[in-house]
Amino acid sequence: MSITLFTNCAELATPLGGGLHRGALQGLLHLLPEASFAVQDGRLIWIGALRDWNGDHDRVVDLGGRAVIPAFVDSHTHAVWGGHRLDDFEARSQGKTYEEILAAGGGIYQTVRQTAVASEETLAALAKPRLAALLRSGAATIEVKSGYGLTTEAEMRLLRVIARLQDETPAALFPTLLIHVPPEEGREAYVQEVVEHLIPTVVREGLAHFVDVFIEREAFTVEEARRILEAAKAHGLGLKVHADQFHALGGVELAVELGALSVDHLEASGEAQIEALARGRTVATLLPGVSLHLGVPPAPGRRLVDANVPVAVATDLNPGSSPLFSMQMAAALAVRLNGLTPAEALTAATVNAAAALGLRDRGRLEEACRADFLVLASADWRDALYTLGAPDVIAQVWIGGELVE
Ligand code: NIG
Ligand code: FE
Repeated sequence: MSITLFTNCAELATPLGGGLHRGALQGLLHLLPEASFAVQDGRLIWIGALRDWNGDHDRVVDLGGRAVIPAFVDSHTHAVWGGHRLDDFEARSQGKTYEEILAAGGGIYQTVRQTAVASEETLAALAKPRLAALLRSGAATIEVKSGYGLTTEAEMRLLRVIARLQDETPAALFPTLLIHVPPEEGREAYVQEVVEHLIPTVVREGLAHFVDVFIEREAFTVEEARRILEAAKAHGLGLKVHADQFHALGGVELAVELGALSVDHLEASGEAQIEALARGRTVATLLPGVSLHLGVPPAPGRRLVDANVPVAVATDLNPGSSPLFSMQMAAALAVRLNGLTPAEALTAATVNAAAALGLRDRGRLEEACRADFLVLASADWRDALYTLGAPDVIAQVWIGGELVE
């Protein structure tokens, strides 16, 4: 198979080692100046100084004296929805809160109603440019949740749309069944339906890697979530949890106890939750777009890292709480809002975000890893975390050794 040699990279910056990066390790990058690297069959086979390359190669790509970092992993999105939430946005600007809107049957419920009237074709057509924006922002791997269905058939339909979207993007999509909010009538029957029918059907049809539950006053209780997540675990699916967005109700502790891959949000988490996370292996995922958009206090990213918790960052792209279409911006906001250093934010957006999806073959640039990388417009890797709102900070996106953006 052909080998491509990439040369003239001003600086290659990457976390090393698969799995979870905690504490001091989270801020430790490997920086290789004047780097070159070789790719075969979509994987990195060599990284070093050009003078040390003595293999054969079929093609040379000159990176023009720019910096290279691993491609981002966006480990939390709700990219498939119908309708819009512009009325919520305006109402919140006039003092209404997200929780009030949800409790009154709007918010997520409004999106469920608007999603229900759109065809699968329409939903896929709406989602495609959203995924394209995430890809352009540097996300080579994107998790996508269902959750705007609230019946077995409606959730399956969303998962089918996500499966179909994989044919429309070079990014690797990882679908998640999200048990989002209880239907307005019959919550006990829905939980039972999810456990006995929806999860087994999703597994049988191979439509999701993970199950996620939203634990909140207006969503599911810890006990309901436990039943759903235990069923998912028994079926061999990975677990994810939305917890402590507005209130610390025990969702973080449940996620750690059940060995969830990640627990996401954490805006309302305090010392007890940080301690629980420090004792476990669950990744804590920061969603700074939510803090920015809803004006809620950011999750305690600094204290989580200092307590040795592995931290990831994601966009949470969705119409209600985070209309953030850039993974680069999410990582840059984690520095401003959650108190991470640029190196910690890069780790959070790459190798730890990969761990939040149970992936060890990406999110870092090492031999045998996928050749998913970003060429920056700049010669300094820190520009990827510094820049706000300049779309061309990521000059090129390479996935599996192929230029896709
Ligand atoms: O991650 N909080 C729950 N779910 C999403 C928001 C979904 C919506 O508002 O449409 C979130 O913030
Ligand atoms: Fe979310």
